Amino acid sequence: MVHFLLRRNWIGQIRLALTLFGLPFPVCASGVRPAISCSPASPFRTSQTLRYITTSYCNQSFQAMPSSAAPHVKSRSPLYGGTKVKRFPVPDDKVMWSQTWPQYSPVSYTDPAVAKKPQWADPDIGSFSPKFNSIDGGVDRTSFEGNYKVEKGKPLNPRGRTGLTDRGLLGRWGPNHAADPIVTRWKFDAKGGKILHSVSKRPILQFVAIKRKDCGEWAIPGGMVDPGEHVSLTLQREFSEEALNSLMVPASERAKIHERITKLFKSPGFQVYKGYVDDPRNTDNAWMETVAINFHDESGNSVSELPLQAGDDAGQVKWVDVDSSFPLYASHSSFLELVAKERKAHW
Ligand code: BGC
Repeated sequence: MVHFLLRRNWIGQIRLALTLFGLPFPVCASGVRPAISCSPASPFRTSQTLRYITTSYCNQSFQAMPSSAAPHVKSRSPLYGGTKVKRFPVPDDKVMWSQTWPQYSPVSYTDPAVAKKPQWADPDIGSFSPKFNSIDGGVDRTSFEGNYKVEKGKPLNPRGRTGLTDRGLLGRWGPNHAADPIVTRWKFDAKGGKILHSVSKRPILQFVAIKRKDCGEWAIPGGMVDPGEHVSLTLQREFSEEALNSLMVPASERAKIHERITKLFKSPGFQVYKGYVDDPRNTDNAWMETVAINFHDESGNSVSELPLQAGDDAGQVKWVDVDSSFPLYASHSSFLELVAKERKAHW
């Protein structure tokens, strides 16, 4: 079965793997059709959180994607994550730690917001010793990439050098876990028919996008997994906070929103991606990983009817046509490409 699926999708999968700078893990689905399946027995994940998500969304046997050789790119952007801090330039052939490079002289940077020791950030190494590669209290320090190395007490980015050490803007040493809810619907005409794209002749999907306040880029309304939180809850909570402004609406309305979106988020989602994200905030010692799940409103009368209202980290929110020309934050465009393929939509 897995073999058949792999064969059927191999060109697209290889292309997507390259786009994702090394998509390391299976794209697994339930409901409509599995792209590549995975199981709760995935050897890469031991946390409660992920066991939950894998049993919910992926019930088939595990098959890992071939890892791409393409190195991370946004993680080496010359100016670090929208600050004025300049990364030490790392050419493609020096990204891997296995390449000895005595001249490597990365800049050390911890953003003042992180150094202030907010509750979402770890203290400095030295004053505490996190349990890397394990669930450390409530904090999940395991990686989708498998066991990562720890050198001189600091975890090493599994995708290689970034030109910057310490945590930068990220709170956790090692993996920082996020979750991305991709909420979609079809674009309908006035008569309720699906609108086809003039060139591809495929139906157009729309997804809920937010404009991030930190960098001004359009993105999926995702967010960080709180310590001890199930990913399924993070997905719903982040969507409610950022796209429906649930933190600010009156309690009576909040209950209505909750009821409406719980239905959608309980429906079988399509697990689009889980793994390392080529995020501009990544450093040699801290990096982003995410689980992206697609929740699709086929009839267009569940979430589509809720008034979108930007909240929390989002400056704006709107339904956006899924289209390869729309630029998105970090690896989000690659996630949308996978969704479009899964739903046989225009890309
Ligand atoms: C965002 C997610 C994103 C992740 C990795 C988080 O801050 O909320 O949408 O996928 O970072 O880039």
